[in-house]
Amino acid sequence: MSDSNPIEALRALEGEALSAVESAEDAHALEEARVRYLGRKDGRISVVLRGLGDLPPDKRPAVGQEANRVKEVVRAALEAREQALSRPAVAGGEDLTLPGRRPWRGALHPVSQVIEEIWGIFRDLGFTRARGPEAETEWYNFEALNTPLDHPAADEQDTLYLADSVLLRSHTSPVQMRTMEAHEPPIRIIAPGWVYRRDTYDATHTPAFLQIEGLVVDEGITFIDFKATLAEFARRFWGPGTKVRFRPSFFPFTEPSAEVDVKRTIVRPDGTSEETDWLEIMGAGMVDPAVLDNAGYDSERYTGFAFGMGPGRVTLLKHGVGDLRTFFENDVRFLNQFVR
Ligand code: DAH
Repeated sequence: MSDSNPIEALRALEGEALSAVESAEDAHALEEARVRYLGRKDGRISVVLRGLGDLPPDKRPAVGQEANRVKEVVRAALEAREQALSRPAVAGGEDLTLPGRRPWRGALHPVSQVIEEIWGIFRDLGFTRARGPEAETEWYNFEALNTPLDHPAADEQDTLYLADSVLLRSHTSPVQMRTMEAHEPPIRIIAPGWVYRRDTYDATHTPAFLQIEGLVVDEGITFIDFKATLAEFARRFWGPGTKVRFRPSFFPFTEPSAEVDVKRTIVRPDGTSEETDWLEIMGAGMVDPAVLDNAGYDSERYTGFAFGMGPGRVTLLKHGVGDLRTFFENDVRFLNQFVR
């Protein structure tokens, strides 16, 4: 400020400071500019203000006023630039700093997850996967399975007929017969698929639902194999502490027949545990010799066991959901809770 016109010098300083502020690309560069021009000790504008005392008294007010004006302008520019830098980068109306929108990703339906899990366990136990048609004949759906057509299950009240003696299969058990016709023993299959019944749509029934059929046939298959295989499955699916109960029952295609129940132990986060009630998870039994005969197998030589379960029901029990319809109405907000 030694030169003759301090006012002009201050204006030059103003221009210099403003372009330094404008070209600051980040908070660090901005802070450097602030210190260089407004820093209390060596800031160039501060130095001018401090040097006012060295000026002739008549010049002090005008120079002081100008120095304060420049200081204020630079301070305002620093503030504006600071705000601009902290604001998201905006280009063509797009905020480039926003996180990207994730593409929509599909996920397995909760009931499909359960089917995959069940299938995986049986695959590890040596089973393969089988399938059969959803439009079946009375023979495969009923008669071959030792179920006479005057049996209540074959009643038109319960079964959806497509034509004379052709119907939508009411269970996956016909896959047993189709598999045995196509293959020689040993048979070890799991057959998931859709089945249809004339049911009213409510919390526990849907006219179309899924079943998983299982069939094992070989020489020397006993009730011990039957119990051990299904108990092993139950413990792998429901947890090692699970209790398994075989309750005598009746199905036309098995003898003896059983309903399989499980009692789970639920361990709470605090380490205490609680047992559930007995939950029925499947129908099962030793394959009736009449069924083996219908398949053309020698029922003196071969024995086996079969089972059928509803993965929809299993999914309800697994997740503690009360209404089967929630799995059919496909509200994504509901289904997303089960995405793994
Ligand atoms: N098919 C039976 C049903 O739909 C379930 C079933 C029971 C399947 C016993 C089997 C079995 O294979 O052995 O209710």
